[in-house]
Amino acid sequence: MTDVAKLDLGDKKIDLPIITGSEGEKGLDISALRKETGYITLDNGFVNTGSCKSAITFLDGEKGILRYRGYPIEQLAEKSSFLEVSYLLKFGELPSKKDLDFFEEKITSFATLPEGITNMLDQFPKDAHPMAVMSATTAALAGFYPEFLKTPLTDVQRDRAFAQMLAQLKIIAAYFYRRSQGKEPRRSHPSLGFSKDFLNMMFFEEGKEIDDEVAKALDILFILHADHEQNCSASTVRVIGSSQANVFATISGGIDALWGPLHGGANQKVLEMLEEIQAAGGDYKKFLEKAKDKNDSFRLMGFGHRVYKNFDPRATIIKKQCDIILEKLNIQDPLLDIARGLETEARNDDYFVSRNLYPNVDFYSGIIYKALGIPTEMFTVMFVLGRLPGWLAQWKEMREDASSKIARPRQIYTGANERNYTPFSER
Ligand code: CMC
Repeated sequence: MTDVAKLDLGDKKIDLPIITGSEGEKGLDISALRKETGYITLDNGFVNTGSCKSAITFLDGEKGILRYRGYPIEQLAEKSSFLEVSYLLKFGELPSKKDLDFFEEKITSFATLPEGITNMLDQFPKDAHPMAVMSATTAALAGFYPEFLKTPLTDVQRDRAFAQMLAQLKIIAAYFYRRSQGKEPRRSHPSLGFSKDFLNMMFFEEGKEIDDEVAKALDILFILHADHEQNCSASTVRVIGSSQANVFATISGGIDALWGPLHGGANQKVLEMLEEIQAAGGDYKKFLEKAKDKNDSFRLMGFGHRVYKNFDPRATIIKKQCDIILEKLNIQDPLLDIARGLETEARNDDYFVSRNLYPNVDFYSGIIYKALGIPTEMFTVMFVLGRLPGWLAQWKEMREDASSKIARPRQIYTGANERNYTPFSER
């Protein structure tokens, strides 16, 4: 089989090497294209563009496959823990018990925030959107740890950044939540485990303990969100990191990209949409019609995916978890009935079927967050906490790759041709 594709541009011809990934997926290496032919490629939304080679996550959107470092998401969700998955994403292998203990101890050593950061958190309005708070304080951490401004970082510093951010971002999220509720923030107790510690910081009440099964449900959600190869926020992290910006600024940029409603912000929008449908009498069919109407900007939030064209394996697991956790907490949420109704209807509707639009990770996750007591505005923050090890692993992989370059795409210019400046009197 040929290992080059031949591109014939009339007067110029070029052989483009064919790259094959470890799962057999094919790509054309166009790195010599502009130099040898003067042409560039144009790919709106990077639909056909591979921005890097990566050994972290494999995703087959047609078959609904998602694997971290080769391990199927279904197995990790059932058998692993979020911190073990974080280790796996970072180092590429499952840890020994000793390695995991060491990794967790390292995270434990960052169980507090600098006082300047808590002062900053105290200054936000109580009703500030928590994603604004997460983004701003994450970037601000660079002001408190100037050793991370040196470039390149040593391996030890990269390890520290990984542990420190896993520990501190969850404290920032819980601290601001408690403040916004007019409650005293709680200390982090990492020995509880990542998810239980977070829930404890959020919801601590004297005499009440966080249920292990509830903490496990959250841990599973974090595992499902932990990485998703070159999505919008991971690509943002790689683009910012490629300029050798510091790791806090880099992750802060990832948080901002995630906030958008077409990306991680969709989980908040899904719940708001379900509530809107409920408030309008529960007639979800009317909303399906709106989503199909090309003159209406309304989209069915939590539906569709750039890569999954069959089903989103994360959504399948989350849907099951949703049933388990609502039963465990003895909650009958009418929003779940609306969500189920929407899904059934959409799965039988030619508009959604012909466009391969299925529920994605955000469709049912909000119902679980709501059952756990997480406020709607914090849903995307939960996505941040889950996605953090993935962003950090993508950043680490890129920074350790000696061939990685600053991200600097080209463009096809469509503006005015050269013209002379005219004074006001002539305009
Ligand atoms: N509701 C109604 N129509 C839709 C939807 C939707 N949710 N999603 C896509 N379409 C239609 C779209 O109008 C287009 O129709 P046509 O071919 O007639 O013009 C067709 O399906 C293809 O859509 P697209 O916008 O070209 O697809 P994309 O790959 O650029 O966008 C998406 C993917 C996820 C942004 C989009 O499906 C969407 O906006 N979904 C709702 C927001 C959402 O749930 N986002 C979370 C994504 S999963 C978590 C994450 O990765 O962050």
